[in-house]
Amino acid sequence: MEYNESEFLIETKVPSDEVIISRTDLKGNITYANELFCEISGYTLEELLTKSHNVVRHPDMPHSIYKDLWQTLKDEKQWVGVVKNLRKDRGFYWVKAIVSGVYKDGELVEYKSLRAPISYGEKLQHQKLYDKIRKENGEKSRRVVYE
Ligand SMILES: Cc1cc2nc3c(=O)[nH]c(=O)nc-3n(C[C@H](O)[C@H](O)[C@H](O)COP(=O)(O)O)c2cc1C
Repeated sequence: MEYNESEFLIETKVPSDEVIISRTDLKGNITYANELFCEISGYTLEELLTKSHNVVRHPDMPHSIYKDLWQTLKDEKQWVGVVKNLRKDRGFYWVKAIVSGVYKDGELVEYKSLRAPISYGEKLQHQKLYDKIRKENGEKSRRVVYE
């Protein structure tokens, strides 16, 4: 899909007094999202429930980050990381995500993620880090120059 770069420029701020929550099946298809997830991502719950969680994947996010997330989940450990997500309207939002398994009678049945806002400094640091990782891995780069 072709994107108009200017559409990527609008950030949606994540509130600090509420948590963005979603759950997926074991393949990463969304099974639940709270109201704040819908509001911040710009999707209705109905739209989200038919989709894989990569619906909010932002092109600035290196593939290796999600590879690490899935490996961590397969190892039945909790993954914590900083994520830039894509809104339905092509704007973006930054979060710190905690992703882990949901267990029923000791059996892994789903995954869940809780997300909280991060500071401006953390956003800047991770934007630079992710730009560097994508460049190193030969992934598509943004046309942004840091002085
Ligand atoms: C519970 C859970 C929450 C996730 N949350 C996000 C998310 O907020 N944004 C995102 O891009 N990927 C999220 N993922 C990872 C996606 O499933 C997917 O691996 C990622 O978007 C990369 O897409 P790809 O695997 O198709 O390359 C989540 C996965 C799980 C299991």
